[in-house]
Amino acid sequence: MPDTLQATAIAEIQSADTLEALQVVKTKYVGKSGLITRELSMLGKLPPEERKTRGAEINVVRQGIQAVLDEREASLKRASLDAKLQSEAIDVTLPGLPLPSGGLHPITRVYDDLINIFTRLGYNTVEGPEVEEEHYNFEALNIPWYHPARELQDTFWLADGRLLRTHTSNMQVRYMVEHEPPLKMVSRGKVYRYEATDATHEAMFHQLEGLVVGEGITMSDLKGTIAEMAQGLFGAGAKVRFQPSYYPFVEPGADFSVYWQNPRGQMEGKAGKWLELGGCGMVHPNVFRAVDDLREKAGKARVYEGKTGFAFGLGPERMAMLKYGIPDIRYFYANDPKVIGQFRGELNGV
Ligand code: DAH
Repeated sequence: MPDTLQATAIAEIQSADTLEALQVVKTKYVGKSGLITRELSMLGKLPPEERKTRGAEINVVRQGIQAVLDEREASLKRASLDAKLQSEAIDVTLPGLPLPSGGLHPITRVYDDLINIFTRLGYNTVEGPEVEEEHYNFEALNIPWYHPARELQDTFWLADGRLLRTHTSNMQVRYMVEHEPPLKMVSRGKVYRYEATDATHEAMFHQLEGLVVGEGITMSDLKGTIAEMAQGLFGAGAKVRFQPSYYPFVEPGADFSVYWQNPRGQMEGKAGKWLELGGCGMVHPNVFRAVDDLREKAGKARVYEGKTGFAFGLGPERMAMLKYGIPDIRYFYANDPKVIGQFRGELNGV
């Protein structure tokens, strides 16, 4: 065996700079058909007296090469681990990526403000069915089939004769059938009208219905309540105005408006304007009668005849449009995060 074998092997091992390259060198020298193995296999051809010393020499060379190989392998493995750790290192001090965050829908915000006010005034909050029976949406509210008011509320009818409620007033009836007076409730939810959509009309929108029933309730209780609500929403100075109007389920009926203070009024020379927010009135005796009829059918006592009460209904879309200066009702339901994401803040101090 040339004496240079060990030296060449070591030089090759040292210059192998990857584990793969080192494997090639390893096979070349100590593999099954490597150079060392070949030297060993040639021992048999030597005279017996030389065999032993030669065998011992080759073994020393082999061990020498193996030791350098092992060391080189360990150091290459360490280097590759270091490189891996380096490339996978995470700098925990880097600022995080901004994640888009959701926000409450403007309609939800307006509802929250309204419900807070009415909860403070002792009202119970309920929700009810959007798929409704004709009787609760119309008949029991003093709107018989021939009544012209039905034309005001073009209706989505279902194949089974039910309908999508056209207003939350259905909950007046449902609530009174379940509860005895005195009572105060507000009901929130979606309502549907079969009509063409434009900047101020949607086929689906929201309402808040209020109902108070007891003894000796008067129109001034109603006015005081609406004023309280307006001040809660628009600040202590908010003014309300009532104008006679017609709704079959109340008598007398009225529309109420709030004087909306324009925050840029001075600049524009317009301090504000009256904005109609909803309808209201004293509960019609026919509604109480219809409720008692339903109660009687359900085996309950007739407790509403002779009672007095008021009701009101309003649309949060309109309030949100005012508060946020949204020009088109359709923006609320276009599901465009760029639009909805802009509306933040409280309803107070519009
Ligand atoms: N239900 C009416 C509508 O959808 C709103 C309304 C008016 C509700 C007068 C009331 C009320 O409770 O008293 O237009």
